[in-house]
Amino acid sequence: MIPKIAVPRGTSDILPDAIPLWEGMESQARKILKSYGYREIRTPIYEETALFKRSLGQTSDIVNKQLLELATSKQEGYALRPEGTASVVRSYLENSFDKKDPLSKFFYIGPMFRGERPQKGRLRQFHQIGVEAIGPNSASPYLDAEVIALAMHLLKDLGVKNSKLKINSLGSKESKEKASIELRERLRAHKKDLCKDCQDRFERNIFRVLDCKNESCRRIVASIIKHLPLSDGPSRLHFESVQRLLNDLGIEYEIAPYLVRGLDYYSYTVFEITAEGLGSQDAIGAGGRYADLVEDLGGNPKANIAGIGFALGIERILLATGQIQDTPTAIDAYMVVMESDSDYQREAFKIVDRLRKAHLNVDMTYTGDRSVKSQFSRANKLNARFTLILGEEEFKNRCIAVKDMTNRTQENVKMENVLEYLKKKGVG
Ligand code: HAM
Repeated sequence: MIPKIAVPRGTSDILPDAIPLWEGMESQARKILKSYGYREIRTPIYEETALFKRSLGQTSDIVNKQLLELATSKQEGYALRPEGTASVVRSYLENSFDKKDPLSKFFYIGPMFRGERPQKGRLRQFHQIGVEAIGPNSASPYLDAEVIALAMHLLKDLGVKNSKLKINSLGSKESKEKASIELRERLRAHKKDLCKDCQDRFERNIFRVLDCKNESCRRIVASIIKHLPLSDGPSRLHFESVQRLLNDLGIEYEIAPYLVRGLDYYSYTVFEITAEGLGSQDAIGAGGRYADLVEDLGGNPKANIAGIGFALGIERILLATGQIQDTPTAIDAYMVVMESDSDYQREAFKIVDRLRKAHLNVDMTYTGDRSVKSQFSRANKLNARFTLILGEEEFKNRCIAVKDMTNRTQENVKMENVLEYLKKKGVG
């Protein structure tokens, strides 16, 4: 036998039985996203590698270790998108939204790709529901509160219980720079005691030492710094306003003084939402403000265009809500042909076609020798609401026996009236 080819490691098929669950989640999410004024955007699943290097940062783990680059003959490289923010900002500038709107609010739902070591809740292809609010009018802390409220609203309505919101502020670009100098000074004496990764982070991206999971690094950090210092008044005021607004909206949060996030583009507010039942990969969503990303990707420096957004991991939502992917499909009707005579089958096929054109979900078998019993069991398996039966008698009388599978009653209905009959019964 020729060996089979398996699905790539860290990816999975979403099988037909699970599709109703995904569709349900997506349509529920779309409804909520639209009610907050966000509009859908669909960007390509791959971009120039340079886009991710410039936005997520050359030193971030995603760019350093996890970018899935495409082998092309061209000089310029392409990579599968590891997240959505960079692409949305690229599109925002390319399509001149900055000239059209003081604030553009986008959402996206789709697959992302990271070359990570797969484990529970950590995949190489996963799906995000994300938003980005971008524009010259985006500086207000009200927008931070709106975006966080939206993330919490989505999770609640998608069935995630016991989620926890953690927030922090990295401050403005200047404040970040000062803080990183201060942090380096204070950590220098302890550098040799940090884990190997953190010794590397000390050089490349000092902030990441703050959220190292290693116990001894945590102890060192706690001994030298209580939280990231916000060196300018506006940075402090912004963070205080965000907290006040979250209080006003009754959104519970915890200030996480060492939360810094792994992507370089953040400044001011950053947040992460965790949920129970996810194991070590317990972040169900995360986001934050990016004050300089638009300029870093070629936006007008004088226009002062900032943005803020988040992304929720759909697979992690499914894990947290324990939704097993076996929602039974239900179809409207299944056509059973009593005789394998081809005239009957052709008549049945025409009726099925007519019902399908009226958007009913109808099926039948095309294999003439399938027994009546196996056709009925197929109707049961597909959870058909009605079975349509075409036998010799019915064929002669130009009618169909319509069996209601919920109460097992049966009626003969003229062929031309089947659609109307089914609709009257609430189908379609
Ligand atoms: P992120 O924290 O890298 O942020 O990812 C957001 C969420 O995507 C995570 O909390 C998690 O639920 C899910 N996720 C990430 N990686 C994986 C993986 N390998 N397997 C399964 N799920 C995963 C971002 O992507 C930012 N773009 C969020 C953002 C938008 N910030 C501002 N705007």
